[in-house]
Amino acid sequence: MSPDEKKKQAAQAALEYVLPGSIIGVGTGSTVNFFIDLLAEKMSGDIETTVSSSEASTQRLKKHGFRVEDLNAVGHLSIYVDGADESNSRLHLIKGGGGALTREKIIAEASDQFICIADDSKLVGTLGAFPLPVEVIPMARIMVAEKLEKLGGSPRWRENFITDNGNHILDVHEWSIDNPVELETQINQMVGVVTVGLFAHRPADVLILGGDQGIRTITA
Ligand code: 5RP
Repeated sequence: MSPDEKKKQAAQAALEYVLPGSIIGVGTGSTVNFFIDLLAEKMSGDIETTVSSSEASTQRLKKHGFRVEDLNAVGHLSIYVDGADESNSRLHLIKGGGGALTREKIIAEASDQFICIADDSKLVGTLGAFPLPVEVIPMARIMVAEKLEKLGGSPRWRENFITDNGNHILDVHEWSIDNPVELETQINQMVGVVTVGLFAHRPADVLILGGDQGIRTITA
């Protein structure tokens, strides 16, 4: 089974968590794109409104005829569906490969249930083989990079990329993240950091993995 088939399988399984009349938070990425398309195909009349984590997902949702609202207008979400770059078995995640980590983290925080969908290659023992994205205010990029180096990481500027919030991304390589909760706290405290793509204080509640043997579901 190809990675895309596995992603689609996970996206299909996530539909079962979407209740009619839902206000649904929608993440970003190729797995979520499958989810949006399936949602439109199978449940379009059941969704009251959506809150989107990126301009790319907003465009896709609108193309399918879904309403997209600002989080401030909605306040609270029952469910958020998003992908991940890595997950450990405690459902701590690395996210932000697509650069949408800040809005993703905000929507995850505002949601009762965070359903993470991915192909089975995303489940790892220790987070960090995938470079950890950190969104920074542009003028603080070098200052934050130096602090990340002192913590043991190797940050690289994602050149020619500006986030939907007008900021820069540092991708931190060569980090074996043994304590995701503590590292998230440390990076959050750096002046100039907008968001770190570690989702450990607010992990996923359910991880749905597509694989050759079918769906595997892990709950926190
Ligand atoms: C975007 C993300 C995505 O969820 C993550 O990059 C996974 O993407 P994909 O579903 O394409 O593998 O965090 O900022």
